[in-house]
Amino acid sequence: MSTQPGAPPRRLTVHELRRMKERGEPIAVVTAYDATAARLVGEAGVDVVLVGDSLGMVVQGHDSTLPVTLEQMIYHSTMVRRGLTRAGARAHLVGDMPFGSYQASADEAVKGAMRLVAEGGVEAVKLEGGSDYVEVIRRVVRAGVPVMGHIGLTPQSVHKLGGYVVQGKDVDRAQALLRDARALEAAGCYAVVLECIPTELARVITGQLSIPTIGIGAGPSCDGQVLVLNDLIGLDPTFSPKFAKRYAELGTDIGAAVGRYVGEVKSRAFPAEEHVFHAASVRLVPVAEESEAEGREDLPGVVGAPV
Ligand code: KIV
Repeated sequence: MSTQPGAPPRRLTVHELRRMKERGEPIAVVTAYDATAARLVGEAGVDVVLVGDSLGMVVQGHDSTLPVTLEQMIYHSTMVRRGLTRAGARAHLVGDMPFGSYQASADEAVKGAMRLVAEGGVEAVKLEGGSDYVEVIRRVVRAGVPVMGHIGLTPQSVHKLGGYVVQGKDVDRAQALLRDARALEAAGCYAVVLECIPTELARVITGQLSIPTIGIGAGPSCDGQVLVLNDLIGLDPTFSPKFAKRYAELGTDIGAAVGRYVGEVKSRAFPAEEHVFHAASVRLVPVAEESEAEGREDLPGVVGAPV
């Protein structure tokens, strides 16, 4: 397909993501929660950006994703949308449906998903859950909003699961997850996140679905991988889950940079001459000489014309 010269690049669609699976091209997904991060990850060439409700933990400082609201998801999605658009990025943008926005009824799910698209600027929504959510997913898809499923360790069910623990380790649970994955595809999901499940199970699920699987703690056989940006860039040096790889140590770097800044403020090494503005036509005089300041009572202590 040809584009106008200077036109923004065409965004990656749900159909292209499926074609990537068909030709065996891995899909790179990462989270972002604000415009700066969106610009950086967009320019770095990620295929999909997820405004994850993980923002409840890594941005808001909660110990789970449960307190995140739909309004907050919309707010962060608008920022990420702006960042991607300004970067001219072609990444596909997905927003998480937060806890409580889709579990009670399909009607509420449809309304929430439509708000995330219309107000937040996302192209698709992600929601957690298996076969129990088939009707909800069908309704959202029928309303015109693509749905990414999410099974395995579903953080919104942390209390039901009894913690953030690997799922599907025994045969019965593994079979149930395979059934869930098939049900999500049949319900109309265009992709499904597999979180923290054995790599052997992820390989079976990936082989049986024609929609892409996106793994986090699910091994290399998935069609794509997703990481939380904060984990990927090492913003929290004390948090090292087994499934995440740190590609930078920005938490340590930021601590060191701010420490140097504090030191230079204290020693008056900052600001230096190159950070200072001058105005040749403005001269400061001691306050005692104020009366001589050519009647400029509005600017005590300053003579001359400001520039
Ligand atoms: O909320 C999130 O960031 C997620 C990913 C970890 C898949 O759901």
